[in-house]
Amino acid sequence: MSPKRGFSLNFVSKLRKSGKEVAEPRPASTPSMSFVEATRVLSHELLSTRKGYRIIETYPVVEPFASINIVEDETSGKLFYEVYEISLTSEEREIYKQIYEHMIWEIKPTATLSSDAINEIRSTARRIMNLFQIRFPRTPSLSWSKINYYIERDFLGYGVLDPVFRDRYIEDISCNGPGKPVYVWHRKYESLPTNVVFSTVEELDEYILKLAHMAGKHISVAYPVLDAILPGGHRVAATYGKEVSTSGSTFTIRKFSESPITIADMINFGTISSELAAYFWLAMDYKMTTLVLGVTGAGKTSTLNALATLLRPTYKVVTIEDTPELRLPLENWVQLVSRPSYLGGAGEVSLYQLVRVSLRYRPDVIVVGEVRGDEAYVLFQSIATGHSGITTLHAESIDAAVKRLTSPPMNIPPSYIPLINIALLIRRITLADEKGRLRPARKITNVWEVRDFGEYEEIAKWDPAKNRFTVRLDNSLVLSRISDLTGKTREELLEELVRRKMILEWLVATRKTTYKDVATWIQKYYLDPVRTLREGPLYGSAPQ
Ligand SMILES: Nc1ncnc2c1ncn2[C@@H]1O[C@H](COP(=O)(O)OP(=O)(O)OP(=O)(O)O)[C@@H](O)[C@H]1O
Ligand SMILES: [Mg+2]
Repeated sequence: MSPKRGFSLNFVSKLRKSGKEVAEPRPASTPSMSFVEATRVLSHELLSTRKGYRIIETYPVVEPFASINIVEDETSGKLFYEVYEISLTSEEREIYKQIYEHMIWEIKPTATLSSDAINEIRSTARRIMNLFQIRFPRTPSLSWSKINYYIERDFLGYGVLDPVFRDRYIEDISCNGPGKPVYVWHRKYESLPTNVVFSTVEELDEYILKLAHMAGKHISVAYPVLDAILPGGHRVAATYGKEVSTSGSTFTIRKFSESPITIADMINFGTISSELAAYFWLAMDYKMTTLVLGVTGAGKTSTLNALATLLRPTYKVVTIEDTPELRLPLENWVQLVSRPSYLGGAGEVSLYQLVRVSLRYRPDVIVVGEVRGDEAYVLFQSIATGHSGITTLHAESIDAAVKRLTSPPMNIPPSYIPLINIALLIRRITLADEKGRLRPARKITNVWEVRDFGEYEEIAKWDPAKNRFTVRLDNSLVLSRISDLTGKTREELLEELVRRKMILEWLVATRKTTYKDVATWIQKYYLDPVRTLREGPLYGSAPQ
């Protein structure tokens, strides 16, 4: 029986470290169970209380128990991310310790954190807390709430990093080894060191075992690399021990956003103009093959998701990914996810195989999360046979993208390059706000249409000096293509773009930017454009 079964990893990993890979993990209250480690960092060291540091922003993440402070070193101006959690008194700590040990005894190990398992943990915690409340009648109710916060944090949440997982400003969480601060990528302040440090090798290893367990996966000296999805859809990559990383275990987590970024969000954030968004809407409507380019973390997958949401709801769409990140509001959607190999190649299902099998589904559009290898070749073959493809590629320009596509391991013949209708580049840049402070932003900086191998028409560009987008559709091949397909004149298509732009601007103006809102209105427009315009942006205008 795998020792990763238990919920609380502490006792499991203790057993593992002691070399006793026993058939059935023993309960935690063996002498090896250390409370100090189990609940380490009950309150993190606070920088903000030190001289020479000041808090420049604070916001709650679990009111009133945990909040985040952005702290500035007044001498150097360096910023830090500080997790503040309510501290326990020594009496509360003692009670927590006992409850913790009881919980470890009572919780049955399960493979996944299903809603049944969560309910069971909650009811076990409630029952044990009730017993303790009888035993410690004079302990005030606030203390029990605090204890409950830590129980939830450690048994159902992400332990010491739980407040960070709950912070909606955080995009990435990473740890490069023991004794080093955990770093976060903050939407407002970019990369920041935190006051969370896994100070010993054991603490970090234990945390990584917890992450692996929460993802329902295995990591160990024998299998020291983890690539998995955590509950809530967060993507985790980790290495274990010094097997593959010199400084010891490491992990990096890309947080899953509860609501995917929509095209309306992108207009709202200034990533794209409404005019350009309308162009992409029309392009998606007519299944134009599109490449999303950008470097790591630029926003490629988010853009891909936002674009795919603009597809006609009647299209059959197959998505193919390494990790399930995409979320589409389409009924006719098949989501395929690759599977890594274990034990030297057995059981692997690659992107290549999935792209091949996807053709059996007779898709209108094949969406591949990211092309890197030989799957690109199959994708282009299917585009050549009349399917449409949307995918992302790690590249910083159209030239670099084409170079990658036509070189090993993708090996796309140059004659296939004109099958790409549109390529866009998204970049993470730094912009000064109205007060002159530098803020991170994402911009679709260039959009090209592909005329031929080496011939690209730049139809849109973002001007950094003016922070403005310019769109020039005079020579648009995509409009000509749609015109050929539909018999509509270029003028009629430009009018259609104006109508879609109105809808999108109205969604932004009336704050209908959530995934659900945007999907609803896009679908409404597809069903009945005139009525949707009247219900939306033209509300109140007289029927003609
Ligand atoms: N237009 C945007 N505005 C603000 N934040 C964004 C935008 N697009 C993406 N993000 C955020 O940036 C982070 C990275 O986005 P995403 O996963 O789409 O990037 P990526 O280029 O696909 O990354 P990777 O190379 O790791 O696959 C996410 O947390 C996402 O919420
Ligand atoms: Mg991505």
